[in-house]
Amino acid sequence: SIPVDNVQALASKDLKDVPVRYIRQEIQSEEILADESLQIPVINISKLTIAGQPGYDDELVKLHVACRDWGFFQLINHGISEAIDAMKMVTEEFFKLPLEEKMKYAQLPNTIEGYGQAFVVSEEQKLDWGDMLFLLALPIALRNLTFWPQNPPSFRETFDEYSNKLYGVSMKLFKLICTNLGVESDAICKMFEGCTQGIRMNYYPPCPEARKVLGLAPHSDATALTLLVQVNEVQGLQIKKNSKWVPIKPVSQSIIVNIGDVMEIMSNGEYSSIEHRAVVNFEKERLSIAAFHTPSLGAIIGPLPELVKDKTPKYKTIDMEDYLKLIINSKLDGKCLIDHMKI
Ligand code: SIN
Ligand code: FE2
Repeated sequence: SIPVDNVQALASKDLKDVPVRYIRQEIQSEEILADESLQIPVINISKLTIAGQPGYDDELVKLHVACRDWGFFQLINHGISEAIDAMKMVTEEFFKLPLEEKMKYAQLPNTIEGYGQAFVVSEEQKLDWGDMLFLLALPIALRNLTFWPQNPPSFRETFDEYSNKLYGVSMKLFKLICTNLGVESDAICKMFEGCTQGIRMNYYPPCPEARKVLGLAPHSDATALTLLVQVNEVQGLQIKKNSKWVPIKPVSQSIIVNIGDVMEIMSNGEYSSIEHRAVVNFEKERLSIAAFHTPSLGAIIGPLPELVKDKTPKYKTIDMEDYLKLIINSKLDGKCLIDHMKI
């Protein structure tokens, strides 16, 4: 990978013009669909605790429709607001630290973990207007504490708690998704016992040319499920719907969940992994925290056998090692990962 500038430091120079490598000509003519009524479904997970309780069936159908028709939804009444609020606080505090303090946790060449920027593979590649801190949280054996900030002092403890709580919510969602797909209730959960969880904290500084840059280029997530929280009130997430970009308005205290490529493949295309991106603001900084859940290293990635008993599989079946190679290759050739997996 090629090292690039720290964006927070660049933004603090009060430049009038943003360096050309951040400017994306194509986005300036794109259509944004700011229709207030067009919003992703809101799922009340407290209605999904016990099968048969009032409202359970309706909410389960809502979840199915959300996964099938949107690939994105907001989760409310998840019961982990305390862990989320604490995590938001330490994230804000971390990015406020002086650059040299943050650089104690800087990425090493060719790795993604630590404080730095998204992978850049060529000198021509456009750059994202944002910095990040990416940490592997689960399984515990993969944790590399050298990248875990000790400033603010409560960071590690708060992060550990957040990781656990989000893992719990993800497992609940996997179970519900099994029910909705009509597969044995543990089929997916088994794959995710010992799942890999990576957490990416994003910092997008204000930008004098906010409409010409992107905080995060369009992509779909290579994960199974991503759980995202927005740290402050500044919006920026947009999803592709009917070929147009739809800005997402986070409901207070919600977790934004999206179906990743692995889930699209496992569901044999019943659910879809939607392209999305992050835009930035002229005056305000924006922060978000994304937690990616991917099957454990020994897992097999492919349509769930129960779903292709009497249907043609639409995707290949490969092991996790080959899937990880595919993630890297698709970054290099610019093709969607999911296209490599289609039969
Ligand atoms: C993403 O992780 O793809 C979106 C992040 C964001 O909304 O900032
Ligand atoms: Fe994403």
